[in-house]
Amino acid sequence: MKSKNFQLNKCNVLIIGSGGAGLRAAIQAKSRNVSVSVISKRNKNDSHTVLAAGGINASFGNLDQNDSWKAHFFDTYLEGYGLGDPEIIEIMAKNSPELVSEIDLWGANFQKLKNGKLDQRFFGAHKYRRTCYSGDYTGKSILQSLLQRAELIGINVQDSEYVTQLLVEEKVCHGAVSFNMINGKITVHLSEAVILASGGHTGIWKRNSSRKDENLGDGYALALRAGCKLVDMEMVQFHPTGMVLPEEFAGTLVTEAVRGEGGILLNKNKDRFMKNYDSNRMELSTRDKIAIANYTEISEGRGTENEGVFLDISHKKKDFIINKLPKIYDQFLEYQSLDISKSPMEVAPTAHYSMGGIEVKPLDHSTNIKGLYAAGEVAGGLHGANRLGGNSLAEILVFGKITGLAAAKYASNLYKKPISKNIINDAIENIENKFQTGSEIILKLQNQLKNIMWENCGVIRNKEKMINGLVEINFIKKKLSQIQSFENENDRNFQRLVSYFDMDFSLLAAEATLKSAIFRKESRGSHQRSDFHKLDESYKVNIKVKLKKGNIEVYSNKVKELKEEFNLELKDQKLIIDFKGKLLE
Ligand code: FUM
Repeated sequence: MKSKNFQLNKCNVLIIGSGGAGLRAAIQAKSRNVSVSVISKRNKNDSHTVLAAGGINASFGNLDQNDSWKAHFFDTYLEGYGLGDPEIIEIMAKNSPELVSEIDLWGANFQKLKNGKLDQRFFGAHKYRRTCYSGDYTGKSILQSLLQRAELIGINVQDSEYVTQLLVEEKVCHGAVSFNMINGKITVHLSEAVILASGGHTGIWKRNSSRKDENLGDGYALALRAGCKLVDMEMVQFHPTGMVLPEEFAGTLVTEAVRGEGGILLNKNKDRFMKNYDSNRMELSTRDKIAIANYTEISEGRGTENEGVFLDISHKKKDFIINKLPKIYDQFLEYQSLDISKSPMEVAPTAHYSMGGIEVKPLDHSTNIKGLYAAGEVAGGLHGANRLGGNSLAEILVFGKITGLAAAKYASNLYKKPISKNIINDAIENIENKFQTGSEIILKLQNQLKNIMWENCGVIRNKEKMINGLVEINFIKKKLSQIQSFENENDRNFQRLVSYFDMDFSLLAAEATLKSAIFRKESRGSHQRSDFHKLDESYKVNIKVKLKKGNIEVYSNKVKELKEEFNLELKDQKLIIDFKGKLLE
């Protein structure tokens, strides 16, 4: 190795991301007596998991005794329009009760019934009350419990580390390279196994429910460049209810728990419009349908002055609201001086969750790159074309545990040829060459990208818009490549370096999404096209992307069929509506 200025971190299992999936994986790996390092961009106490508000699904049947893992399986599979991987769904549905009980014991301290069992609330499109919760801060209580546990067993979480590249040679992963966002120090992490748990990419839409420096698509870009495939990238969930005001917080989540606890949606004429879209389930319909309904009301002129619709829970007692929805109650007081026990909220769709992601094998969430695993939002396969609220928290615990175990086992049984020094040197040089000037330009480009995705690949898309999006992305790519690097070491600005890599990763994730969305010439779940507004059975496929000589290649595979025993049970009729609210079947 040339005399490069870097520090070395050697461990058996490297975990990238300190949200719920990463921490649960770390705890499991550590229990197998391997050395574990967790690195992440954000402060470990404040990963995106804290924003998952309303609850976590587990089919305990504490209130509705007919619930079962199979009922949870069918709700997830059917509401994902048959695109989800049945094996992955089965694993999640079977394992979530155990993992929810465990995290409750570890300190999440979910709401209890009088008999001591966990309370369960309604969430959209679940047949039964299945969502366990701590008020409307469930993600936060889960994250805190995981952090405490991790600390107790001596897991070190290093935050402010920005990963720029996975170290891969001959389809084997050997670790990653990162730089410290505060002092710029480069670290080479050499490990037997790597778990990517780095979140999604909805931060690249103008209106989104993430903070500004999270969910920018880095995990997808790292994985694509490492040789992985991505699946269903066009399936981006727009949560129906994001805040509309104030402008700087537009998109901030208004949890589904508001509707779960009885909140209703009204247009400017005070018409409870969900009766026109899903008269059976009303406000507890699926997220895709409610997002389309809200979008339609607004775009057809029945929205509020601020281009939202009303979400009203003021018919409930103030005490009830404060008890069940304390965070939302405070959020509206703080941002809008609005007392939601007296007045309705204004809400509109917001980009919320990446349902596609890295293609993984169901049983252990390994990828096609040896030693590389993916868990949580960055992984694909579970949600299909529409995610049920409350399944993301179940996913992070279940597949965090599974990847932690799989990675630790893989790492313990391994003799691995060391990686070539050239690959490490190139990864370091790739950072050093990019100490950039021009953050101002990059920040402008970031805003442009968010507008491009919102305008061209939003709730309703069409070919013309998406092609336009690709053209504009190419223009931004060119601009990014023209930004000059500079010579003077003292002028290094690490936030600019972060912005540079964010932008580079976001562009690749955006391109993968647009190309997948153009490929799917139908409307299904969260992917709604005004030029192909019907569901088309010939598109019962998973759309995949990979990099070939640096370019994105798109192709499709037929979805995995259900096991025979499930097929026999699949008698439920499924209602599908187009974006105008017309019933298709
Ligand atoms: O609305 C919510 O509380 C979000 C939950 C989820 O995305 O699972």
